[in-house]
Amino acid sequence: MTTTTALDCRYRPKHHYTAGRNWLNDPNGLVYANGTYHLFYQHNPAGNDWGNMSWGHATSTDLLHWDEQPVAISCDGQEAIFSGSAVLDVRNTSGFGTADNPPLVAVYTSAYSPASQLGGRQAQSLAYSTDDGATWTKYAGNPVLDRASADFRDPKVFRYDGDAGSYWVMVAVEATDREVVLYKSADLKTWEYLSTFGPANATGGVWECPDLFELPVDGDAENTKWVLVVNLSPGGIAGGSGGQYFIGTFDGVAFVSETTVTGGLQQDDSRMAEYGWLDWGRDYYAAVSFSNAPDGRRLMIGWMSNWQYGAATPTTGWRGAMSLVREVRLARRGGKVVLVQAAVDPFGGSPAAAYTLAGQPLDAGTTWLPSDASGDVLRIDVELEPAAAGETGLLLRCGNGEQTVLAYDSGLGVLSLDRRASGNTEFHEAFASVERVAVPLEGGRLKLEIHLDRCSVEVFAQDGLATLTDQVFPAESSTAVALFADRDGGTVVRLDVVR
Ligand code: FRU
Repeated sequence: MTTTTALDCRYRPKHHYTAGRNWLNDPNGLVYANGTYHLFYQHNPAGNDWGNMSWGHATSTDLLHWDEQPVAISCDGQEAIFSGSAVLDVRNTSGFGTADNPPLVAVYTSAYSPASQLGGRQAQSLAYSTDDGATWTKYAGNPVLDRASADFRDPKVFRYDGDAGSYWVMVAVEATDREVVLYKSADLKTWEYLSTFGPANATGGVWECPDLFELPVDGDAENTKWVLVVNLSPGGIAGGSGGQYFIGTFDGVAFVSETTVTGGLQQDDSRMAEYGWLDWGRDYYAAVSFSNAPDGRRLMIGWMSNWQYGAATPTTGWRGAMSLVREVRLARRGGKVVLVQAAVDPFGGSPAAAYTLAGQPLDAGTTWLPSDASGDVLRIDVELEPAAAGETGLLLRCGNGEQTVLAYDSGLGVLSLDRRASGNTEFHEAFASVERVAVPLEGGRLKLEIHLDRCSVEVFAQDGLATLTDQVFPAESSTAVALFADRDGGTVVRLDVVR
């Protein structure tokens, strides 16, 4: 299988992982081991569309620069390799390695093809590596967990060490039932049923790619909660694919949610905004976290696309990018415990800003920033004191009649990202859109961290309280940035552009 498609790198991001060639979707098997972060991913090694699903592989030592590696786990005549996770089996519980050389073990979904005896089923399987992820062997005893289901997939495995004991826990989905099912194991090969969670909150699409992890609240190790991530498609808050999360407890057997607004299969459309969302944009899906990340950090990556139009995005020779890596924490904000997120800064710390403004009145109209503040790859940190009414915000990736509008409506308290005039939106009827999230001002101020790359905008509002991630496909020369307000009275407290 060879690829002959020409490679067009026009929209190829600088700071977001893409496969050198061909299709990618979900991040898989995120694991840190021996100084290296491993990013595996759903990949078609032979084409620019979804198909031949295998695990592609990339490695990094800093979460910023990724080196593509050979395909790690390949599909064959019997099975496609669907999403899953990987663990460093430190105690060699699986016996795939030795005490001195513990194996990396991937737990993936075998999506069996009609040619297989298990044709039509999805079941969980193992592959292992004893050379730091360079080569992988499928376990001869696969599958290790089969429920005779056609929609049982996306296993996320983690080590539980708590009051109930010490063992591996798998969370996976019965996708069409909108259920997360939990299992436990001593050796990763034999699994025992623990419990089922769901359906709850958003149920407007199949549940996929779950994750479950514990985090301290406001950094207090004595006060922890568990976060259950459930991606769903369609049925996300902005339309199409999206990720929701629940906060609660896990006793080693069952996850109990403290944030369920509506239970059962019938979601309440009028209460969608009350559910917990990982992102309020269109392009942050299948987000899961790294296993074994150093310093107890919880680092997540999402596929920066959406099943509604992901197959049609206008790139040639490659298709699909990962989000920036995000560190997630639990914090008490406005009397509620919520997930807050911060990008791992692609500029690697705090390089000098190319352009800075401070304490500047923001009058009605459009204020163009100078060329030092423009570009297709930028980080913009801005703190605004919007006027008491009307809209205030930024115009991004402007030029050639194109603009992406990030606006705050003071009357409604709503931040919106409008990509209707962002550039090429024609490739799919569902692409042109406006995303919205309610964001309260803090002390009258709105703080935004904006990451622009060649085909994306990621916004972190109020120190990561809400995020908006959208793909955009502007012309390369659409690089201007402006501030705007529709009435006088606002202030730019601070603005820094890094490029
Ligand atoms: C999510 C998903 C998973 C599945 C994979 C197949 O985007 O549909 O449920 O394992 O993609 O590529």
